[in-house]
Amino acid sequence: MPSLNDIRSTFLDFYARNGHKVVPSSPLVPRNDPTLMFANSGMVQFKDCFTGAETRDYVRATSAQKCVRAGGKHNDLDNVGYTARHHTFFEMLGNFSFGDYFKEGAIPYAWELLTKDFDIPKDRLLVTVYHTDDEAAAIWKKVAGLSDDRIIRIPTSDNFWQMGPTGPCGPCTEIFFDHGDKIWGGPPGSADEDGDRFIEIWNLVFMQNEQFADGSMRALDMQSIDTGMGLERIGALLQGKHDNYDTDLMRALIEASAHATSSDPYGPGKTHHRVIADHLRSTSFLIADGVMPSNEGRGYVLRRIMRRAMRHAHQLGAQDPVMHRLVPALVRQMGAAYPELTRAQALIEETLRLEETKFRQTLDRGLRLLDDELSALPEGSALPGAAAFKLYDTYGFPLDLTQDALREQGRTVDTEGFDAAMAEQKAKARASWAGSGETKDAAIWFDLSDEHGATEFLGYDTEKAEGSILSLVSAGAAVLKAVAGDKVQIVLNQTPFYAESGGQVGDAGILRTSTGRARITDTRKAQGLFLHVAEVTEGEIAAGQGAELEVDHARRASIQANHSATHLLNEALRRVLGDHVAQRGSLNAPDRLRFDFSHSKALSAEEIARVEAEVNGFIRQNGEVTTRIMAPDDARALGAQALFGEKYGDEVRVVSMGTLPGSAKGTDGQTYSVELCGGTHVARLGEVGLFVLLGDSASSAGVRRIEALTGEGALAHLNEQMKRLAEVASLLKASPAEVVERAKALVEERRSLANELAQLRREAAMGSGDAEVKDIGGVKFLSRIVSGVAGKDLPGLIDEMKSSVGSGAVLLISNNDGKAALAAGVTADLVERFSAVSLVKAAAEALGGKGGGGRPDMAQAGAADASNAEAAVKAVEAALEG
Ligand code: ALA
Repeated sequence: MPSLNDIRSTFLDFYARNGHKVVPSSPLVPRNDPTLMFANSGMVQFKDCFTGAETRDYVRATSAQKCVRAGGKHNDLDNVGYTARHHTFFEMLGNFSFGDYFKEGAIPYAWELLTKDFDIPKDRLLVTVYHTDDEAAAIWKKVAGLSDDRIIRIPTSDNFWQMGPTGPCGPCTEIFFDHGDKIWGGPPGSADEDGDRFIEIWNLVFMQNEQFADGSMRALDMQSIDTGMGLERIGALLQGKHDNYDTDLMRALIEASAHATSSDPYGPGKTHHRVIADHLRSTSFLIADGVMPSNEGRGYVLRRIMRRAMRHAHQLGAQDPVMHRLVPALVRQMGAAYPELTRAQALIEETLRLEETKFRQTLDRGLRLLDDELSALPEGSALPGAAAFKLYDTYGFPLDLTQDALREQGRTVDTEGFDAAMAEQKAKARASWAGSGETKDAAIWFDLSDEHGATEFLGYDTEKAEGSILSLVSAGAAVLKAVAGDKVQIVLNQTPFYAESGGQVGDAGILRTSTGRARITDTRKAQGLFLHVAEVTEGEIAAGQGAELEVDHARRASIQANHSATHLLNEALRRVLGDHVAQRGSLNAPDRLRFDFSHSKALSAEEIARVEAEVNGFIRQNGEVTTRIMAPDDARALGAQALFGEKYGDEVRVVSMGTLPGSAKGTDGQTYSVELCGGTHVARLGEVGLFVLLGDSASSAGVRRIEALTGEGALAHLNEQMKRLAEVASLLKASPAEVVERAKALVEERRSLANELAQLRREAAMGSGDAEVKDIGGVKFLSRIVSGVAGKDLPGLIDEMKSSVGSGAVLLISNNDGKAALAAGVTADLVERFSAVSLVKAAAEALGGKGGGGRPDMAQAGAADASNAEAAVKAVEAALEG
């Protein structure tokens, strides 16, 4: 009996043998379709190949595509566990032709694979075709030899396949398997078609049209093929089962669930095991593809599925978290075909464990509340909306979980009452916000957030994605469109653009729609919405359009290099300066990083060098940067650095990087830096390239600020420094290695030249200028007017003048570029009679100066104008005369 893994391989091998390229499944989160929550068929990743918008280097492809149908249009969640063929996760096997073969190729391939490779008896197969498709009917007749009553013409949309309201589409032919008359049901198109006897196993779509939003349709330039066959269905058939959950793969998971809960896999808890097995697959694959549980968008769909499974585990009597213990069984079954599952195993286990631990804290009390409510209600009546809302709001029961729990008792929920309770809560939140004094302008964000919910951020995993434009806002009001030159804020349902927060600046980039283009210069956040600050550069952009979004990659790469370096810097500072270092602020811009931290004194050159070397060491180590979601207490137990006083929710993102030397790679506790952080980071530290600390300064009392550069910015800075060094070296006529010695020698030489020059100036001054000795009332007075002698050289000269007169008073005035430097002296024998201080003051005053000071035997002063030096001499003579 072939296993599901065998069947998948047989399918892919068959088409590979027939010239098809085996293309890996695309991620569950579609990047190329803003309207789709999850990939739900094999053609999603090829949709542009059918319309001609994209060409690849192959025209035939085959794939096994991971699909999730939960949330959004195709929602199978409610039926899972209770029916034979509903799944939230399934695999779709498909073959595709992009303008290569058409019906005449697709039908024979399908027939050959089913009847030869899979060995299905021909008489158990029948097909449907679109009622006008004579061509397909004729091919079936010729290729399969099917009689007319086994080629059923269907006039309804059942045989015209559409991806969605827009996109490629076309008539299709479906292949059915007849399980025989022991099972009730009629062939497709008959009154009893809903029975279980005739099961559709494969849909072949003849892609030949494109549907537009306005309802019109065009013929595609090329005719293509898109087929889809659920692996679980064909698996059940080939394994002789009627129920998908009886296949080998699903049984292995059901048995793992039974083992983990010590219960009978096929006993009274059978439905619980089936739900758990299905939900284990969807949740694990979603987590592997980057979805994390949250209260919005895809994250909330994941949370709903997880919690639903967890309630079923609880019903089975499990006392402890169960789901994470089933992951190894899933990886054993599917890890070879989907390596991403193996790679993400630890993350999946941790995420499931955290969610189940947390949910269990309220699950018991919630179920008790539910029981109390129900016991007070008349038999069979619906649960009031207010009670369902309380379960949702207080106990974390998604609405569908409550509905699922009630289903077992044949009851429903008053969903209108639930919606009303939800609306009332939103109104209260808004009322309390309105009283908070925030600006009126922000009202629009509240309205939009109420209407559309929070924007989903895709930018941890991708820099390019499509989104639907929900609203354009200009000057605080919604507008329907914006044309070239207009500046608007654009709100989309999802985006790869990071909105400014936690010190990381908002992303910039490009937005394109079918009618225009806009430059996004910044991205901000308000009420959970991401606001793309945009200028329309071409054509027009309108609300309701789908848009391609592309983050400026180089800019984002620099921003995240700076952000990761900031985490390393934070840790290096703590290790070098001490545990008192705590982050006080940070900026991660494309061109630099800034980090403020508590520390009271300037860093020494040695500390700076140590911090810089430590950060660069981890960059060269090139370790992976890992991100996990956990409970704040678990994060703290890991030693995560958190911002003091910051309020964290019940889940936090924990970013870890660097491994301490000598420790085993990536082991908890030996990780270098662990921080709570919502920002984006490099994948490996080597991407930071280089870290250069520009210096530290005081930011405020007790807070220092470091500025630093990374990557190309750091390199450009070092290059600039080297260029300067080369210039200096060339001026000094030395090699860069000799520059320091040469500069020291120059400084020394300059000092001795300066001394020599001063000496020469003094000598020149004393040998020149006007000097005269007068006798004033029996006191010798020597005055001299010179130029270019610095004030500091005057006292020495005054001493010389005093010895030349022997006994008397002296005055020296130097005209230094028009300003006067003055000094006066009185020999020791006369200091009782005259003070040099009063003499110099008298001289300075004559030149318009004020003040002067020194000792009675020598004093100095200055004045702004030296032009009238003779007047100063006269003033001193007058002072000596008394
Ligand atoms: N895209 C087609 C389907 O999903 C094959 O049925």
